[in-house]
Amino acid sequence: MAKKRLLTGLQPSGTLHIGNYFGALKPFADTYHEYESYLMIADLHSLTTVRDGMLLRRTIIDVVKDYIAAGVDPKEAIIFKQSDVPEHTELAWVFECLVTVPFLMQAHAYKDKVAKGIEASAGLFNYPMLMAADILLYDAEVVPVGEDQRQHIEYAREAANKFNLAYGETFTPPQEMILKGVGVVPGTDGQKMSKSYKNTIPLFGSREEIQKAVMSIVTDSSGERPENVYSIHRLLKTDIELATLYEEHKGKYKNLKDALIEDLDVYLSPLRDKRANITDEAVKQILQDGAARAHAQAQIKMEQVRTKIGTRL
Ligand code: ADP
Ligand code: TRP
Repeated sequence: MAKKRLLTGLQPSGTLHIGNYFGALKPFADTYHEYESYLMIADLHSLTTVRDGMLLRRTIIDVVKDYIAAGVDPKEAIIFKQSDVPEHTELAWVFECLVTVPFLMQAHAYKDKVAKGIEASAGLFNYPMLMAADILLYDAEVVPVGEDQRQHIEYAREAANKFNLAYGETFTPPQEMILKGVGVVPGTDGQKMSKSYKNTIPLFGSREEIQKAVMSIVTDSSGERPENVYSIHRLLKTDIELATLYEEHKGKYKNLKDALIEDLDVYLSPLRDKRANITDEAVKQILQDGAARAHAQAQIKMEQVRTKIGTRL
């Protein structure tokens, strides 16, 4: 049986932490080969918030390295950059001419970003239609996203329906796949690990950086075991393995933190090494190959669209 097609998009967003890894990268790396997978770097979406060309260039390369180090094989998945396939913006425009302003005004992500002080650019407003184009150009049936992106997939379904209604059956409405990671990974202060809270354990950090972060984990001496240490340890070892360790070092928080540093380092050092061995040139080559494969697909779909809307004579 032919594999279903999957597409997901990533905005390059800087240094990753182990919460990103166990919550997003690892579940993706564990599932993508069950599908015909497209992994798209959403660099045009990033322009809604990033206005620094050097920074964008750097983060695009970094995010590709992150995913490959996390286990995505560029021979198996098509890894490409959105801006390399001009059909994305072309199709987005077509959708923008089909949906209404009041409809786009309902987007939570747009409202939240504006509430946080991000400028309400026309790009930010039209963001969901570019995302709909990303998905529908490839007839992607499965779209792995975080919970915060659920509504954007509804927008893509609506764009597909609006187009089909106006021009006849053309697009398959996509389905979101909310990745089941390990749940929320807590940070060094016990809150959700997040770059905005500065409570992270870096994914590709050196042993010294891991050590520093683990030593700063807040421990509460009221219970039998330091919960904030344990809940990170659980990502690496089974409850049974940990039961022995935590029994042996009961009350000795320093020893338990040392054990966690060791286990994190054993787990993360192969990823760190793998990442360090990927050159910028290799990433550029991967993106170039990916763009050629994605473009071939996008062109076929866009030709159908051009014929239906009447721009292809
Ligand atoms: P941050 O909160 O550090 O800004 P992002 O919002 O950029 O992280 O999240 C990127 C991805 O990583 C999302 O898919 C999100 O669900 C996942 N993620 C982020 N933090 C955590 C966490 N603490 N636990 C589990 N998953 C997380
Ligand atoms: N908006 C998504 C995010 O910020 C990224 C994205 C862009 C995407 N295009 C996509 C995700 C297409 C899935 C499919 O996370």
